[in-house]
Amino acid sequence: MLESLTSLVQLKSVEWNRVERKLATCGDVGDVRKLARRQLPGGVFDYIDGGAEDEISLERNSSAFRDAVLHPNVLRDVSTIDTSTNVLGVARPTPIVLAPTGFTRIAHPDGELAVARAAAAYGMPYGLSTLGTRSIEELADVATAPLWFQVYVWKDRGLVREMIERSAAAGYEAIIVTIDTAVLGRRERDVRRGFTLPPKIGLDTFVDGALHPRWSLDLFRHEPITFSNVAGMSGIDGGTAITLSDYVNDQFDQALSWESLDWMIEAARNVGLKVVLKGIQRVDDAERAVAQGVDAIALSNHGGRQIDGTPAPVQMLTGVRDAVGSGIQVICDGGIRRGSDVVKAIALGADAVMLGRPYLYGLGAGGQRGVSWVLDHIVSGMRRTMALCGRATVGELTPDLVTQQLWRSPPLQR
Ligand SMILES: Cc1cc2nc3c(=O)[nH]c(=O)nc-3n(C[C@H](O)[C@H](O)[C@H](O)COP(=O)(O)O)c2cc1C
Repeated sequence: MLESLTSLVQLKSVEWNRVERKLATCGDVGDVRKLARRQLPGGVFDYIDGGAEDEISLERNSSAFRDAVLHPNVLRDVSTIDTSTNVLGVARPTPIVLAPTGFTRIAHPDGELAVARAAAAYGMPYGLSTLGTRSIEELADVATAPLWFQVYVWKDRGLVREMIERSAAAGYEAIIVTIDTAVLGRRERDVRRGFTLPPKIGLDTFVDGALHPRWSLDLFRHEPITFSNVAGMSGIDGGTAITLSDYVNDQFDQALSWESLDWMIEAARNVGLKVVLKGIQRVDDAERAVAQGVDAIALSNHGGRQIDGTPAPVQMLTGVRDAVGSGIQVICDGGIRRGSDVVKAIALGADAVMLGRPYLYGLGAGGQRGVSWVLDHIVSGMRRTMALCGRATVGELTPDLVTQQLWRSPPLQR
């Protein structure tokens, strides 16, 4: 009896690791997002998850991918799938880059170090934010992932030049110049919660923290979260509680123009760094960026966190690619949550894509393991989609694979 029962029923092995156990119940990035929402205080989750104003751009970023339709070929040899491609002049295992995100340690004490370790396993470049919570050098010391450094343009140009030189000295490959943040977008979830960086301890934060004891304990057990790259240099280094908008509006250069961009490009080139211009949202600006001589442009609306009501970057791809030709690399970010989204973006003309929130959800849900879960999910989804589309290589991901229905998406259910 027992023998016939054991031949029918296989006992599941017990997963003793709490994080692995929880991740094993996740089916997609949406599930990891829910897990992160349970682990993190509401204000922290909203800082990561939220967008500007009515969050129209935020929702459109994802719905544009859902509305893009795949037209698969059948009966093609897909016994070997090759996701490798050239990104910024280097052969990489996938066209995926991890986007810069500020104040990363708020999601998990390991912060950027955990993200870089997970990225290394997939050979994915990782962009450290100027507003990162690990310094350029700290990250370079542990990272085997290729590193890029994201630069906001501070009024203090000496500070910008110094950061560019530090990243070159630490072995980074490129700078990402983010040009969509002359002032900070109005992130109304943060406004409602009175969210500051680092979080101020009021009664509401205290209650929120008490409801998330693991996060709170981590916060108190580890060294304070600061803007490590500008610590002690820019008046406020993250050690003082301040709203992000006050910080940005005070420190960043609102007078930045195409003319002053030349200075930035020259500063990077002088120390051997490539330049990615992040935050392009129009065809004419893409053309101007090419004329200015950058190495790549990143079509991005900052994950819907800056100006609201813009197109999803994936909706800009065809027009931009047609205008700029094949002489410049185009990176697309915003709303990528699945491997099939990566396939759609590449087919529509991107050379690479960047992920922001997906890895932050992973970080919040389970540190490095959570990030690895997300990266694995997206890469395996890309491979599966390529196989199901009859396209074995990245070069075969061509525009005939996708049609887009624009502007017709219902809002996401939250
Ligand atoms: C919490 C958070 C912080 C961010 N911080 C930065 C930043 O410091 N610099 C920057 O250029 N972009 C920043 N971004 C935007 C990302 O680089 C990227 O453009 C965006 O997250 C892509 O959209 P996705 O989150 O839908 O993948 C941030 C995004 C998030 C969610």
